[in-house]
Amino acid sequence: MQQVQVSVFDHSGFSEVHSFPTGMGLSLMEALKAAGYPIEAICGGLALCASCRLDWLEGSVSEPNDAELDMLDTLPDNQSCSRLACQIRLESLYDGRASIRLNPSKS
Ligand code: FES
Repeated sequence: MQQVQVSVFDHSGFSEVHSFPTGMGLSLMEALKAAGYPIEAICGGLALCASCRLDWLEGSVSEPNDAELDMLDTLPDNQSCSRLACQIRLESLYDGRASIRLNPSKS
């Protein structure tokens, strides 16, 4: 089983690096929740709540789908780096690594 490395920054600038397994069909949201991050994921990963929103800082990844773009468009502080963690499969981290910032609206 392969792994991806994700550097996770919080709103205070603190960061941790995590290794998550690919090949299990996990989303980044599911992996982050399993690692103990307080992501609400109110809609359960259906791109309907934006509680899993993050800033994508670095790393090649799949483009957002229509459902993700539609949800992000409803956010007043949506930015070009905004993503929904529930819509990103770990397998879609093409470089095998990424940097993200959680809770961007709180920074
Ligand atoms: S968990 Fe609701 S949009 Fe991602």
